[in-house]
Amino acid sequence: MAELIDGKRISKEIKDELKAEAEKFKAEGKEATLAVILVGDDPASAVYVNNKKKACEYIGIKSLSYELPKETTEEELLALIDKLNNDDSVNGILVQLPVPDHIDENKIIRSISPSKDVDGFHPLNVGALLIGEKGFVSCTPAGVIQLLKRSNVDIEGKECVVVGRSNIVGKPMGVLLLRENGTVTIAHSRTKDLKSICKRADILVVAVGKPKMINAEYVKEGAVVIDVGIHRMDNGKLCGDVDFDSVEPHVSKITPVPGGVGPMTIAMLMDNCISSLR
Ligand code: GUN
Repeated sequence: MAELIDGKRISKEIKDELKAEAEKFKAEGKEATLAVILVGDDPASAVYVNNKKKACEYIGIKSLSYELPKETTEEELLALIDKLNNDDSVNGILVQLPVPDHIDENKIIRSISPSKDVDGFHPLNVGALLIGEKGFVSCTPAGVIQLLKRSNVDIEGKECVVVGRSNIVGKPMGVLLLRENGTVTIAHSRTKDLKSICKRADILVVAVGKPKMINAEYVKEGAVVIDVGIHRMDNGKLCGDVDFDSVEPHVSKITPVPGGVGPMTIAMLMDNCISSLR
């Protein structure tokens, strides 16, 4: 039977470390402040934003909340970001995505000062990651690296296959695994013979956005499987991109959904917020 990689436990461990670090900074008169901007009334986004604010409270990060109506113009949003960019008391700025269709997401991402871009989405931070320089790293792939390290999974020299090539997860995930000296393949929807590529993997990270797409036919015996996907099924339960019941008997370690990668994203966001005090 596979060992479950417990993202809930590991994220709590990281948050507790950050809480202790925040207390130390506070004694030196330093406090992190995160500005969280939500435009519109998407219920899922509201839940995510609320969880981010709760995590800030737990750790001792001040959070400023901007909940703007869906009619907010691009100019208004850019003006708020400009104000926060120039406010020295604010360390981090996060605009919850997606933004409404009339707002250009790329323009918003580029408007956040790279030094306050705790999501790690700004092209300057993405570029810094690619060439191994300091910068904010996208939270979900950074969380996957922590899951692997804190579960004693050695990455160096391993065959790592990432399924999915999004700017937020797949691409930075590949770069992070490479930085840890993994041998990395990034597979995607046009990849030929995806099954045999995935079957090569010692470490398989799946971020395709298709419920239960990866079954036992895609995995090598004893592999480590990380499932980034999260979907609500018709019966109301959550599932990932990996067919857990099919894959679990064949692998050495696997993340559950929920309780795997999900909680790690917020923990790493908090780490990015505290890191601006370091
Ligand atoms: N929407 C879904 N995931 C994220 C995330 O990590 N950051 C932001 N800002 N929006 C998101």
